[in-house]
Amino acid sequence: MKVAVSFIKSRYSEKETIDLINQTSADFLHIDIMDGEFVENKNYDYEDIKMFLKDNHKPLDIHLMCADPLKYIEEYIELKPYNITFHIEAVNNPLRLIELLHDNGIRCGLAINPDTSVKEIKSYLDLIDNVLVMSVHPGKGGQKFIPDTTSKINELALLKKNFTIEVDGGVNNEVINNLQNVDIVVSGSYICESEDYQKTIDTLH
Ligand code: DX5
Ligand code: ZN
Repeated sequence: MKVAVSFIKSRYSEKETIDLINQTSADFLHIDIMDGEFVENKNYDYEDIKMFLKDNHKPLDIHLMCADPLKYIEEYIELKPYNITFHIEAVNNPLRLIELLHDNGIRCGLAINPDTSVKEIKSYLDLIDNVLVMSVHPGKGGQKFIPDTTSKINELALLKKNFTIEVDGGVNNEVINNLQNVDIVVSGSYICESEDYQKTIDTLH
């Protein structure tokens, strides 16, 4: 299981947090983009992110919590991320976005909110590379893992073809024991508010 670290809730500044993450065995840097429309909070713009990433070497796992993902994909493609994930709730037809990412050699992820069923993305599973299952309501770090999420993960595992399963929100050393079928876990405050990032990551890996 791989670990992607989200830096939106941390005891340090964003830049300091990302530098610390770079000193660990974390597999990905998870970048949460909130637009103030799809979710209530608005956080960073592209220039902020570029500044934070100045010394970053970790592959990027970008999570767009945005009502108009196309606008953001066009920008974030430039960072040559490993992965860009957008929400199925935000788009009527994801096919164009999937194609745009693939044309640029970037893996495409579809995210589903806690209240969205796997059924909503079933017809796209052959076309995408990653499914991100939200285990909290999107919009902020430091929330509690919603236990029902595990049934969705197991449902996806049965349908599994070429996509990875990622779970995002409230992941810590207790929750992790219920996440056997997951390929990538996103963990934020559990790691970034801890005193020793590497030790905390070791409890997940
Ligand atoms: C929630 C974000 C998550 C979250 C993870 O809206 O997508 O990536 O910040 O942070 P924790 O682990 O603190 O829930
Ligand atoms: Zn996220």
